[in-house]
Amino acid sequence: MAVLLSGGAGYIGSHIAAELIEHGYDVVIADDFSNSSPDVIAAIEHISGRPVPCYAIDVKDNLALDKLFSEQHIDSVIHCAGFKAVGESVRLPLKYYRNNIDSAITILEAMQKHGCKRFVFSSSATVYGSENPVPYTESMPAGSCSNPYGRTKYFIEEMLKDAANADNTMSVVLLRYFNPIGAHESALIGERPNGIPNNLMPYITQTAAGIRETLNIFGNDYPTIDGTGVRDYIHVVDLAKGHVAALGYASRHTGTAIFNLGTGKGTSVLELVRAFERATGMAIPYKVTGRRPGDLAAYWADTSKAEAELNWHAEKTIEDMCRDSWRFQKALHG
Ligand code: WQD
Repeated sequence: MAVLLSGGAGYIGSHIAAELIEHGYDVVIADDFSNSSPDVIAAIEHISGRPVPCYAIDVKDNLALDKLFSEQHIDSVIHCAGFKAVGESVRLPLKYYRNNIDSAITILEAMQKHGCKRFVFSSSATVYGSENPVPYTESMPAGSCSNPYGRTKYFIEEMLKDAANADNTMSVVLLRYFNPIGAHESALIGERPNGIPNNLMPYITQTAAGIRETLNIFGNDYPTIDGTGVRDYIHVVDLAKGHVAALGYASRHTGTAIFNLGTGKGTSVLELVRAFERATGMAIPYKVTGRRPGDLAAYWADTSKAEAELNWHAEKTIEDMCRDSWRFQKALHG
């Protein structure tokens, strides 16, 4: 039996693929390469030392997905495919609703048809919205998201809960990611944003590489340790290991379970910049600009549920994350 990994050529998906294979799982990747490259599949194969079946399909394509399920013995799905640019989702909400929601429904229908019962979903801490106190716990109310991207994650969570309610043999695990950064130690896979990065770490590594002149720090007047925004950065390899734990959980339980995947520690933008400089010896020129609309001051995860029920916790430090992000950036551009 195999795990279907949608979006397996993406930043997070590729690390999950490598981790699953290392833990003895057979993995089938589905990716339309709309925001990734087929080279990534070769890199995963290189890391794992074996061929990885890959379907270059859009998971909204129900016929292509049906063919995949007919040809492969899929007993679980990890669904990572989706559009993820927050700003674009505000400008083009229907593009996000059509793609992200339709993909999840199409996969669920194929699973239903082929008797596949385990679904692990790549959700986001963004579903906690702006009303909850920190740290976020899984029992807090969700859904007051500040953008359409976040709302697609929330709607899919709700849909999956309904699907699991309607079929008591189904198992759904919703994984709420905090801020994944870092890269595989091989430096063969990592984050490859198109154009100007939206997220902090790729902007830092591109500044260190001389691709960007100066890092813009979005606000230093938040009520935080040094006035800059605080997030819970988690190494992408730790995050990937969380999925291996979630698959194990899904094989032992039915119904829906929600887990935060974070470290439980907040780090400010300035602290991350300093940690990067310490870990890599590279200087990051920066200037403070205005706040970015929609940003929250500070949030991080309560990780006790994942620790207790998944027997998982993040192990890598902020310095590991910085070092590995930089190693991947150097491998990309020399
Ligand atoms: C982190 C901190 C910024 C860039 C977003 C989405 C979330 C998820 C991950 C993914 C904040 C500051 C950033 C820069 C800066 N989406 N910053 N200068 O906003 O926590 O989360 O990405 O697929 O759903 O909301 O992550 O990395 O953009 O920002 O000062 O050039 O860095 O203000 O405090 P964020 P981020």
